[in-house]
Amino acid sequence: MQQIYLDNASTTFPKPQAVADAVYQYITQVGTNISRGTCAASSEELVFAVREQLCRLFGGEDSKNVVFTKNITESLNIIIKGLLHSGDHVLVSAMEHNAVMRPLQQIGAELTLDNAPADAITFSRIPCNEEGALCLDTLPQLVRPNTKAIIMTHASNVCGTVQPLAQLGSFCHEHGLQFIVDSAQTAGVLPINMQTLHIDALAFTGHKGLLAPQGIGGFVLRESIIDEITPLIVGGTGSLSHTEHTPHFMPDKFEAGTLNLPGIAGLHASLTCLQQQGIGKILTHELTLTQQFLDGLQQLEAQKLLHIVGKRDCSERVGVVSISTDITDIAELAFILADKYAIATRVGLHCAPNAHKTLGTYPTGTLRFSFGWHNTAEEVNVALQALKEVLTHGL
Ligand SMILES: Cc1ncc(COP(=O)(O)O)c(C=O)c1O
Repeated sequence: MQQIYLDNASTTFPKPQAVADAVYQYITQVGTNISRGTCAASSEELVFAVREQLCRLFGGEDSKNVVFTKNITESLNIIIKGLLHSGDHVLVSAMEHNAVMRPLQQIGAELTLDNAPADAITFSRIPCNEEGALCLDTLPQLVRPNTKAIIMTHASNVCGTVQPLAQLGSFCHEHGLQFIVDSAQTAGVLPINMQTLHIDALAFTGHKGLLAPQGIGGFVLRESIIDEITPLIVGGTGSLSHTEHTPHFMPDKFEAGTLNLPGIAGLHASLTCLQQQGIGKILTHELTLTQQFLDGLQQLEAQKLLHIVGKRDCSERVGVVSISTDITDIAELAFILADKYAIATRVGLHCAPNAHKTLGTYPTGTLRFSFGWHNTAEEVNVALQALKEVLTHGL
């Protein structure tokens, strides 16, 4: 049976053939001959070209401020741990992934209490409604004299709800706050312009909407935030080798150690594919499938077979849909979908426990379906039919 892959929020699959070809070509023809020789593009030219592509895609100020890491988790660790100091306060949404929350918890950040010690790092959660959308009106009263930044996921990896970056960016700009965005579910899917949205640090991961291999990610900084972030990882950069001190210039300040060059070659190819296709076209395709799925789910919901978690329409969302059911255990349901129908989904808390507390699905979690560029309307129908069969006739 042909697999129906509906777990694109975890990682997109398949990748375009050009991505696989580019990784293979890099390893077999370019990688052995870094920055010299007979290859059409040296590694340095390749890396420069990808920084330029990313800078254009995200509306960055300067391609030298594009830094490569292995994924967005590493990027957020570098930004959060390098930026925050004793006594700082930050705002996060109630929908954050652990890629934001665990670095905060690790540096000892505590949920704001009025009696917190003055030197503690503290955070407050901006409430979200039962659809996962930010309650913007609560923002002004959450800001404190020591608030330094808003750190926010652009779209929920649990229910797909997109947060209002334009309003948040303007708010940060007006209140002198740094604006840090987790674009894991939106890079390559929704347009993002750091300059018009007033984003100071944009973290991205390559293997989701950017359609690159796993193991390549990064972040883009605005000039004004660079000096405020202390690098987390230091070491050899191939520059200023006469000194044991880390260079202050970009991107070397944050790029110690050998980069994932095959991953960057794959990212080059995937960004080129995205440029050729146009991200708007892929988004339209994914949202068309999402709407078809939501329409079918609403019929099943009317028959009391399941509940849609989050928004029921396609405004302000990406192609990520969660459901719950009272009929059976969702982990078993996911197993049957995989085993009997070859449908790949994801079940549980999706590394975002507080998002489930907001959506009312904690601690069980949800069964998540997420659509990608390669999915078809036929596959959506098969998934709906499978859900109907299993939930009507039992496991
Ligand atoms: C919103 C969000 N942030 C962060 C991450 C972490 O991504 P990565 O594992 O590529 O670091 C994910 C992955 O699911 C995510 O959905």
